[in-house]
Amino acid sequence: SDRHRIALLPGDGIGPEVMAMAETVLNTLIHGHDLPLDYEVLPWPATDWHRRHGAMMPEDALERLRGYDALLLGALGDPGPLDDPRRYHLPDGISLAPLLTLRKGLNLWACERPARFYPGTVQYLADPRARDLDMLVIRENSEGEYAGQGGRLRAGTRDEIANQLEVFTHAATERLIRHAFEQARARAADRARDGRDRVFNEPGGEDKAAQVCLITKRNAQAFWGELYTEVFRDVAADYPDIATHHELVDAAAMKFVQAPWRFDVVVASNLHGDILTDLAAVLSGGLGVAPSANLNPSDPTQPALFEPTHGSAPDIAGQGVADPRATLFSLALLLQWLGEKNTIFNGAARHLHETLKADLAGEHPASGTEAIGARIQGALGGSR
Ligand code: NAD
Ligand code: IPM
Ligand code: MN
Repeated sequence: SDRHRIALLPGDGIGPEVMAMAETVLNTLIHGHDLPLDYEVLPWPATDWHRRHGAMMPEDALERLRGYDALLLGALGDPGPLDDPRRYHLPDGISLAPLLTLRKGLNLWACERPARFYPGTVQYLADPRARDLDMLVIRENSEGEYAGQGGRLRAGTRDEIANQLEVFTHAATERLIRHAFEQARARAADRARDGRDRVFNEPGGEDKAAQVCLITKRNAQAFWGELYTEVFRDVAADYPDIATHHELVDAAAMKFVQAPWRFDVVVASNLHGDILTDLAAVLSGGLGVAPSANLNPSDPTQPALFEPTHGSAPDIAGQGVADPRATLFSLALLLQWLGEKNTIFNGAARHLHETLKADLAGEHPASGTEAIGARIQGALGGSR
C-alpha cells in the first residue's frame, strides 16, 4: 500500500514526555490532514525495558526496526533521580549503546543538524546578526572517534593506560563530504527560489551562493586531518559553484559564537560534529528546539532515524517542563524525508514547521511540555 509506517521510540527521561506531544501532533496530522501514515510506539530501547528484560532492546531489534519507513527517538540515558537509592541505574555505556547500534546497524552514516535562529527563542548572542544564523552541520555518523575500539590496560591501577582508537576510512570520508556539497547546492537552490540568496567569497576567488566548511584538528591529529583535507579538495573540484573553507575545530567553536551567520554547511567528524551541534543548538535558541536526522543518503530504503539533539535531561525529567519542540522539529524533518518518496508528506512537513515557527514568534506566557504540545496541536487543527 501507499501508507507509510513509522515507529516512535520514546526512550528514557524526558523522552516519553516529549514523545507524547509528538504523538498528539502526529494524530492531528494523520486524522486532520489525511496523511497516509501509521505509527507504533515501541517500549524499547529504554532503561525500563532493561530493568524488566536485562537488555536495552530485544535481540532482533534491528531487524524489526528495518521494517519501518522511519523512526523517531525521544532520548536515551539513565533517568535518575540521582539521589534515589532505589533507582535503577545504568551507566551511559549501556543505556546509550542502542543509539550507536541503530546509527551503525541501519547504516545511517550522515547526521544532519540544521540550526536556524527562531524569533521567540532565547537569543543567547547579543549581536543582532546572530538572528541570521542558518547553518547545517553534517556530522560523520559511522566511525571516527566513535569506532568503539580500544581497551584499558591494567584497568583500575595507577599504571592504567586507556586506548581509544579512532578510525577514518577514505570511503566514509568521501561519501560524507560529497553529501555536504550536495546539500550546500540544494540549500543554495532553495534560497534562490525564495529570494534569500547569500554570498560567500573565497580569498582571491569569485562570489559563490553556498559554502562548505570543513572541520578538522589537522594541526594536532595529522593522519585523519590530512585524509579529510585531501578528500575535501578532490570532491570540491566537482563543485566549482560552491565556496570552500576550513576551520580547526577549536577556532570553529570560537567563530560559531563570534560570527555564526558566516557559516552555511559545516562538515565534521563524529565527535567534532557532536560537540559543535550542542553549540549550534544554543545559537538556534537552545537544546529545546534543536532537531537532528540520521540518514543514509545513498540508500533511502533504510529507515532514517530522527531525534532531538538533546538527551534524556535527568535534571528536569518527570517535571513536565521539557520543551517538546526539538522533537516536533525532528518530526517535521521526518515528514519532509518521507516527502522524498511520497510528496503528500511535504505539505504536512512544511505546515508543522511553519506552525512551530509561528507559535514561537507569538505570545507564550506559561510554558511546559503539555501546554506547548496542546498549542501546536490547536494551531495545526485550527488552520485546517
Ligand atoms: P541533555 O541534553 O540531556 O541535557 C543538557 C541540559 O539541557 C540539561 O540541563 C537539560 O535539562 C537541558 N535540556 C535538554 N533537553 C531539554 C528540553 N527538551 N527542554 C528543556 N531543557 C532541556 O544532556 P546531558 O545532561 O549531558 O545528558 C543526560 C543523559 O542523556 C546522559 O545519559 C546522556 O548520555 C544522554 N544523552 C542522550 C542523547 C540521545 O538520546 N540522543 C543525546 C545526548 C545525551
Ligand atoms: C548526540 C549524543 C550522542 C552522541 C551520545 C548520547 C552518545 O550526544 O546524539 O548528540 O554523542 O552522538
Ligand atoms: Mn551530542
